[in-house]
Amino acid sequence: MNNSQDWVRHFESNLKEQRIDWTQATQITNEEKKQIIRSLQAWQLGETSEGKNLRRAAEKYAKQQDDWAYLDAIDLFIKEEQKHGENLGLYLDRIGAKRLKKDLGDTLFRKVRYFATNIEIWTATVIIVESFAQIYYKAIADATNCPLLQEICVDILKDEAHHIRFQYERLHQITKPRTMLWKRITFAAYHLMFYIIMIAIWFGHRKALKAGGLDFKKYSSKARRKFRFVRHKIENVNTQKRELDCLEIEQSH
Ligand SMILES: [Fe+2]
Ligand SMILES: [Fe+2]
Repeated sequence: MNNSQDWVRHFESNLKEQRIDWTQATQITNEEKKQIIRSLQAWQLGETSEGKNLRRAAEKYAKQQDDWAYLDAIDLFIKEEQKHGENLGLYLDRIGAKRLKKDLGDTLFRKVRYFATNIEIWTATVIIVESFAQIYYKAIADATNCPLLQEICVDILKDEAHHIRFQYERLHQITKPRTMLWKRITFAAYHLMFYIIMIAIWFGHRKALKAGGLDFKKYSSKARRKFRFVRHKIENVNTQKRELDCLEIEQSH
């Protein structure tokens, strides 16, 4: 398991990586645009959050734990999320699509985040959303033949695989001292949150997900597998379950 200092090093070196060839032209077709761009505009907006509330919750937690490197890691994590937003924004600019200023799903999600002042609620929400982000960007990469958009998606997928690990290690640390009963209640709450987010994302983005080859059955079964993986990791962060690690790697590409 990494400590906060390790994560700072990871984020610092990952931010220097340039995995997208911006010199290439966009090759998205009008048909592909009809299927995915409205949805991509909404995700782009979602990736641009300033992360002020997360930072506040992280600061409170870092103080309690006397782990100030965790706050540095969170700052770099927020930067990486903003990079996703900026890359998607640049892509939208290139194809002449607007960057949205408002979206209903985004507004609701921001409201929920505003009231979450506790790092556990934050981290659990983020890890669930990131699990769906992996499904989503893989579907977008499959829904287009534009190499630039595919590279942007793969870059995000690679980052998200690390983000998921960053979050489950922290949730492991937070939930580890709890009793069996308290853990069950905790996971029941995470599960409920997972289903709410699963339905919300499906209704908001089903057109794009379908274009990427996912009907509701495939989408929800992929999502449930991911949730099982995350839950397993939160409970047993150090055990080496080969097949589950493979799943993470497979789905990060
Ligand atoms: Fe992201
Ligand atoms: Fe992320």
